[in-house]
Amino acid sequence: MHPILEPGPTILAEAGEVIVYPAGGPLDEASIRQAAEGCVGIVSQLMDPIRETVLSLPGLKVVSNVAVGFDNIDVPTATANKVMVTNTPGVLDDATADFAFSLLMATARRIVEADNFARRAKFKGWAIDMMLGADVFNATLGLIGVGRIGRGVAHRAKGFNMRVLYYDPHPLPPDAEQSLGATRVDLGRLLAESDFISVHVPLTDETHHLLSTPQFAQMKPSSIVINTSRGPVLDEAALVEALKDKKIAGAGLDVYEREPAIHPGLISMPNVVLTPHIASATTRTRSEMSAMAARNMATAIRGGRPPNILNPEVKKK
Ligand code: DGY
Repeated sequence: MHPILEPGPTILAEAGEVIVYPAGGPLDEASIRQAAEGCVGIVSQLMDPIRETVLSLPGLKVVSNVAVGFDNIDVPTATANKVMVTNTPGVLDDATADFAFSLLMATARRIVEADNFARRAKFKGWAIDMMLGADVFNATLGLIGVGRIGRGVAHRAKGFNMRVLYYDPHPLPPDAEQSLGATRVDLGRLLAESDFISVHVPLTDETHHLLSTPQFAQMKPSSIVINTSRGPVLDEAALVEALKDKKIAGAGLDVYEREPAIHPGLISMPNVVLTPHIASATTRTRSEMSAMAARNMATAIRGGRPPNILNPEVKKK
Protein backbone atom coordinates (compact mmCIF):
# COMPACT_ATOMS: atom_id res chain seq x y z
CA MET A 1 0.00 0.00 0.00
CA HIS A 2 3.01 2.31 0.55
CA PRO A 3 6.73 2.10 -0.23
CA ILE A 4 8.92 0.15 2.17
CA LEU A 5 12.70 0.20 2.53
CA GLU A 6 15.30 -2.21 1.22
CA PRO A 7 15.75 -5.09 1.58
CA GLY A 8 11.93 -5.31 1.86
CA PRO A 9 11.12 -4.80 -1.84
CA THR A 10 13.84 -7.28 -2.90
CA ILE A 11 12.51 -9.96 -0.55
CA LEU A 12 8.96 -9.39 -1.82
CA ALA A 13 9.99 -9.44 -5.48
CA GLU A 14 11.69 -12.82 -4.98
CA ALA A 15 8.51 -14.21 -3.45
CA GLY A 16 5.88 -13.13 -5.94
CA GLU A 17 4.43 -10.45 -8.16
CA VAL A 18 4.29 -7.12 -6.35
CA ILE A 19 1.77 -4.44 -7.22
CA VAL A 20 2.70 -1.07 -5.75
CA TYR A 21 -0.15 1.26 -4.92
CA PRO A 22 0.55 4.45 -6.89
CA ALA A 23 -0.60 7.22 -4.57
CA GLY A 24 1.04 8.31 -1.37
CA GLY A 25 -0.84 9.42 1.73
CA PRO A 26 -3.64 7.93 3.81
CA LEU A 27 -5.95 5.39 2.22
CA ASP A 28 -9.49 4.49 3.19
CA GLU A 29 -10.91 0.98 3.37
CA ALA A 30 -12.61 1.16 -0.02
CA SER A 31 -9.40 2.13 -1.84
CA ILE A 32 -7.40 -0.55 -0.04
CA ARG A 33 -9.97 -3.16 -1.05
CA GLN A 34 -9.91 -1.93 -4.63
CA ALA A 35 -6.12 -1.92 -4.76
CA ALA A 36 -5.86 -5.41 -3.27
CA GLU A 37 -8.46 -7.04 -5.51
CA GLY A 38 -6.96 -10.29 -6.80
CA CYS A 39 -4.00 -10.19 -4.36
CA VAL A 40 -3.14 -12.93 -1.85
CA GLY A 41 -1.39 -10.50 0.47
CA ILE A 42 -1.39 -6.89 1.57
CA VAL A 43 1.65 -5.13 3.03
CA SER A 44 -0.03 -2.47 5.14
CA GLN A 45 1.17 0.34 7.37
CA LEU A 46 -0.21 1.67 10.63
CA MET A 47 -2.45 4.30 9.01
CA ASP A 48 -4.24 1.77 6.79
CA PRO A 49 -7.64 0.70 8.14
CA ILE A 50 -7.87 -3.05 7.54
CA ARG A 51 -11.33 -4.18 8.58
CA GLU A 52 -14.24 -6.25 7.25
CA THR A 53 -14.42 -4.46 3.87
CA VAL A 54 -10.83 -5.40 3.14
CA LEU A 55 -10.63 -8.69 5.02
CA SER A 56 -13.57 -10.19 3.16
CA LEU A 57 -11.72 -9.93 -0.18
CA PRO A 58 -11.90 -13.31 -1.90
CA GLY A 59 -8.47 -14.97 -2.10
CA LEU A 60 -6.82 -12.75 0.52
CA LYS A 61 -4.54 -14.89 2.72
CA VAL A 62 -2.27 -12.54 4.65
CA VAL A 63 -1.91 -8.95 5.85
CA SER A 64 1.63 -8.00 6.85
CA ASN A 65 1.69 -4.79 8.88
CA VAL A 66 4.95 -2.83 8.86
CA ALA A 67 4.58 -1.88 12.54
CA VAL A 68 4.56 -3.54 15.91
CA GLY A 69 1.18 -1.91 16.70
CA PHE A 70 -1.76 -3.46 14.89
CA ASP A 71 -4.76 -1.48 16.16
CA ASN A 72 -5.43 -0.55 12.52
CA ILE A 73 -6.33 -4.18 11.81
CA ASP A 74 -9.42 -6.01 13.02
CA VAL A 75 -7.63 -9.24 13.93
CA PRO A 76 -10.74 -11.21 15.08
CA THR A 77 -12.40 -10.47 11.72
CA ALA A 78 -9.19 -11.49 9.93
CA THR A 79 -9.24 -14.75 11.86
CA ALA A 80 -12.90 -15.32 11.02
CA ASN A 81 -11.99 -14.81 7.35
CA LYS A 82 -8.93 -17.11 7.69
CA VAL A 83 -6.56 -14.24 6.88
CA MET A 84 -3.20 -14.32 8.64
CA VAL A 85 -2.03 -11.06 10.24
CA THR A 86 1.62 -10.31 11.06
CA ASN A 87 3.52 -7.44 12.66
CA THR A 88 7.14 -6.39 13.30
CA PRO A 89 7.93 -6.78 17.00
CA GLY A 90 11.33 -6.35 18.64
CA VAL A 91 13.33 -4.59 15.94
CA LEU A 92 12.09 -1.14 16.89
CA ASP A 93 12.35 -1.39 20.67
CA ASP A 94 15.66 0.41 21.11
CA ALA A 95 14.95 3.17 18.60
CA THR A 96 11.57 3.82 20.24
CA ALA A 97 12.94 3.75 23.79
CA ASP A 98 15.75 6.13 22.73
CA PHE A 99 13.16 8.46 21.27
CA ALA A 100 10.85 8.37 24.29
CA PHE A 101 13.81 9.34 26.43
CA SER A 102 14.78 12.07 23.95
CA LEU A 103 11.27 13.52 24.12
CA LEU A 104 11.45 13.41 27.90
CA MET A 105 14.75 15.29 27.89
CA ALA A 106 13.65 17.76 25.21
CA THR A 107 10.45 18.60 27.09
CA ALA A 108 12.09 18.79 30.53
CA ARG A 109 14.90 21.04 29.32
CA ARG A 110 12.87 23.05 26.80
CA ILE A 111 15.22 22.20 23.94
CA VAL A 112 12.83 23.03 21.08
CA GLU A 113 11.68 26.28 22.66
CA ALA A 114 15.30 27.26 23.33
CA ASP A 115 16.36 26.37 19.79
CA ASN A 116 13.61 28.62 18.40
CA PHE A 117 14.63 31.37 20.78
CA ALA A 118 18.26 31.18 19.68
CA ARG A 119 17.44 31.04 15.95
CA ARG A 120 15.18 34.06 16.21
CA ALA A 121 18.06 36.09 17.60
CA LYS A 122 16.31 36.52 20.93
CA PHE A 123 19.43 35.50 22.88
CA LYS A 124 20.69 38.86 24.07
CA GLY A 125 22.84 37.61 26.92
CA TRP A 126 22.99 35.04 29.69
CA ALA A 127 20.37 35.40 32.41
CA ILE A 128 20.03 33.50 35.65
CA ASP A 129 16.34 32.79 35.13
CA MET A 130 16.39 32.07 31.39
CA MET A 131 14.61 28.90 30.17
CA LEU A 132 14.46 27.18 33.52
CA GLY A 133 13.51 23.55 33.13
CA ALA A 134 12.96 20.41 35.17
CA ASP A 135 15.64 18.10 36.58
CA VAL A 136 15.79 14.63 35.07
CA PHE A 137 18.64 13.16 37.12
CA ASN A 138 17.23 11.66 40.37
CA ALA A 139 13.61 12.35 39.29
CA THR A 140 10.77 9.81 39.46
CA LEU A 141 9.71 8.17 36.20
CA GLY A 142 6.32 6.46 35.95
CA LEU A 143 6.00 3.92 33.15
CA ILE A 144 2.54 2.95 32.01
CA GLY A 145 3.25 -0.42 30.41
CA VAL A 146 6.48 -2.35 30.73
CA GLY A 147 6.61 -4.44 27.61
CA ARG A 148 9.87 -4.43 25.67
CA ILE A 149 9.80 -0.68 24.96
CA GLY A 150 8.76 0.33 28.50
CA ARG A 151 11.57 -1.82 29.88
CA GLY A 152 13.95 -0.15 27.43
CA VAL A 153 13.00 3.25 28.81
CA ALA A 154 13.51 1.98 32.37
CA HIS A 155 16.97 0.77 31.33
CA ARG A 156 17.86 4.23 30.02
CA ALA A 157 16.45 5.83 33.19
CA LYS A 158 18.98 3.91 35.28
CA GLY A 159 21.73 6.04 33.81
CA PHE A 160 19.91 9.08 35.14
CA ASN A 161 19.55 7.55 38.59
CA MET A 162 15.78 7.83 38.28
CA ARG A 163 13.34 6.18 40.65
CA VAL A 164 11.19 4.04 38.36
CA LEU A 165 7.56 3.17 39.11
CA TYR A 166 5.49 1.10 36.73
CA TYR A 167 1.87 0.22 36.18
CA ASP A 168 1.12 -2.90 34.19
CA PRO A 169 -1.40 -5.71 34.64
CA HIS A 170 1.50 -8.14 34.20
CA PRO A 171 4.22 -7.80 36.83
CA LEU A 172 7.82 -8.02 35.73
CA PRO A 173 9.72 -11.07 36.99
CA PRO A 174 11.43 -10.20 40.32
CA ASP A 175 14.92 -10.33 38.74
CA ALA A 176 13.86 -7.85 36.01
CA GLU A 177 12.33 -5.55 38.65
CA GLN A 178 15.57 -5.72 40.54
CA SER A 179 17.90 -5.15 37.61
CA LEU A 180 15.81 -2.24 36.32
CA GLY A 181 15.19 -0.88 39.82
CA ALA A 182 11.48 -0.71 38.96
CA THR A 183 8.61 -0.88 41.47
CA ARG A 184 5.11 -1.97 40.47
CA VAL A 185 2.39 0.35 41.79
CA ASP A 186 -1.26 1.05 41.06
CA LEU A 187 -2.10 3.74 38.53
CA GLY A 188 -3.18 6.25 41.20
CA ARG A 189 0.15 6.08 42.99
CA LEU A 190 2.09 6.28 39.74
CA LEU A 191 0.18 9.41 38.70
CA ALA A 192 0.57 11.07 42.09
CA GLU A 193 4.29 10.40 42.57
CA SER A 194 5.87 10.62 39.12
CA ASP A 195 7.73 13.63 37.73
CA PHE A 196 7.62 12.09 34.24
CA ILE A 197 4.95 9.70 32.98
CA SER A 198 5.76 7.77 29.83
CA VAL A 199 3.13 5.66 28.07
CA HIS A 200 4.03 2.29 26.50
CA VAL A 201 0.82 0.33 26.04
CA PRO A 202 -0.87 -0.91 22.88
CA LEU A 203 -4.16 0.73 21.92
CA THR A 204 -7.05 -1.52 22.94
CA ASP A 205 -10.57 -0.95 24.26
CA GLU A 206 -9.07 -1.05 27.77
CA THR A 207 -6.34 1.52 27.10
CA HIS A 208 -8.41 3.97 25.03
CA HIS A 209 -8.35 7.29 26.98
CA LEU A 210 -6.49 5.62 29.83
CA LEU A 211 -5.28 9.13 30.66
CA SER A 212 -8.14 11.63 30.73
CA THR A 213 -9.39 14.44 32.99
CA PRO A 214 -9.49 12.43 36.28
CA GLN A 215 -5.98 11.04 35.69
CA PHE A 216 -4.46 14.42 34.76
CA ALA A 217 -6.03 15.80 37.96
CA GLN A 218 -4.11 13.24 40.00
CA MET A 219 -0.72 14.20 38.53
CA LYS A 220 1.70 16.66 40.09
CA PRO A 221 1.41 20.20 38.63
CA SER A 222 5.10 19.87 37.74
CA SER A 223 4.69 16.56 35.88
CA ILE A 224 5.44 15.94 32.22
CA VAL A 225 3.63 13.34 30.11
CA ILE A 226 5.37 11.52 27.26
CA ASN A 227 3.50 9.48 24.64
CA THR A 228 5.19 7.35 21.97
CA SER A 229 2.57 4.58 21.93
CA ARG A 230 -0.74 5.43 20.26
CA GLY A 231 -2.52 8.80 20.35
CA PRO A 232 -5.94 7.64 21.57
CA VAL A 233 -4.44 6.26 24.80
CA LEU A 234 -4.50 9.93 25.85
CA ASP A 235 -7.68 11.97 25.71
CA GLU A 236 -6.18 14.83 23.69
CA ALA A 237 -8.92 17.37 24.49
CA ALA A 238 -8.53 16.59 28.21
CA LEU A 239 -4.75 16.91 27.87
CA VAL A 240 -5.11 20.37 26.34
CA GLU A 241 -7.38 21.42 29.21
CA ALA A 242 -4.98 19.97 31.80
CA LEU A 243 -2.09 21.90 30.25
CA LYS A 244 -4.14 25.12 30.04
CA ASP A 245 -5.28 24.76 33.65
CA LYS A 246 -1.70 23.99 34.75
CA LYS A 247 -2.74 20.63 36.18
CA ILE A 248 0.45 19.35 34.55
CA ALA A 249 3.56 21.16 33.34
CA GLY A 250 4.21 19.78 29.88
CA ALA A 251 3.95 17.00 27.33
CA GLY A 252 6.17 15.35 24.73
CA LEU A 253 4.02 13.72 22.05
CA ASP A 254 4.95 11.64 19.03
CA VAL A 255 1.46 10.23 18.42
CA TYR A 256 -1.99 11.83 18.18
CA GLU A 257 -5.60 10.91 18.53
CA ARG A 258 -6.55 11.67 14.91
CA GLU A 259 -3.28 11.39 12.98
CA PRO A 260 -2.09 13.18 10.99
CA ALA A 261 -4.22 15.92 12.62
CA ILE A 262 -2.89 17.45 15.81
CA HIS A 263 -5.24 19.11 18.29
CA PRO A 264 -4.98 22.87 17.52
CA GLY A 265 -4.73 23.63 21.24
CA LEU A 266 -1.35 21.89 21.38
CA ILE A 267 0.24 23.76 18.51
CA SER A 268 0.77 27.07 20.27
CA MET A 269 1.90 25.62 23.61
CA PRO A 270 5.63 26.19 24.20
CA ASN A 271 5.71 23.58 26.98
CA VAL A 272 4.71 20.83 24.54
CA VAL A 273 7.13 19.09 22.16
CA LEU A 274 5.42 17.66 19.09
CA THR A 275 6.97 15.17 16.65
CA PRO A 276 5.32 13.40 13.69
CA HIS A 277 5.17 9.71 14.78
CA ILE A 278 8.88 9.10 14.21
CA ALA A 279 9.91 7.22 17.36
CA SER A 280 11.09 4.20 15.35
CA ALA A 281 12.50 6.29 12.51
CA THR A 282 16.15 5.36 12.37
CA THR A 283 17.61 4.14 9.11
CA ARG A 284 18.48 0.72 10.54
CA THR A 285 15.17 0.22 12.34
CA ARG A 286 12.90 1.17 9.46
CA SER A 287 14.93 -1.04 7.14
CA GLU A 288 14.67 -3.96 9.59
CA MET A 289 10.92 -3.39 9.96
CA SER A 290 10.58 -3.47 6.16
CA ALA A 291 12.64 -6.66 5.92
CA MET A 292 10.68 -8.35 8.69
CA ALA A 293 7.33 -7.46 7.13
CA ALA A 294 8.54 -8.68 3.74
CA ARG A 295 9.79 -11.97 5.25
CA ASN A 296 6.46 -12.48 7.00
CA MET A 297 4.69 -11.97 3.67
CA ALA A 298 7.12 -14.14 1.69
CA THR A 299 6.78 -17.03 4.15
CA ALA A 300 2.99 -16.83 4.09
CA ILE A 301 2.62 -16.76 0.33
CA ARG A 302 5.00 -19.71 0.02
CA GLY A 303 2.57 -21.65 2.21
CA GLY A 304 4.53 -21.39 5.47
CA ARG A 305 3.71 -20.02 8.88
CA PRO A 306 5.08 -16.48 9.17
CA PRO A 307 7.36 -15.94 12.17
CA ASN A 308 5.37 -13.01 13.54
CA ILE A 309 1.85 -14.27 13.07
CA LEU A 310 -0.69 -12.62 15.41
CA ASN A 311 -3.50 -15.13 14.83
CA PRO A 312 -1.71 -18.50 14.72
CA GLU A 313 -5.06 -20.30 14.83
CA VAL A 314 -5.45 -19.44 11.12
CA LYS A 315 -2.29 -21.36 10.25
CA LYS A 316 -1.79 -24.40 12.38
CA LYS A 317 1.74 -25.84 12.29
C1 DGY B 1 4.76 0.85 15.39
O1 DGY B 1 5.55 0.06 14.85
O2 DGY B 1 3.68 0.47 15.86
C2 DGY B 1 5.17 2.29 15.50
O3 DGY B 1 4.15 3.10 15.88
C3 DGY B 1 5.82 2.78 14.23
O4 DGY B 1 7.05 2.20 14.19
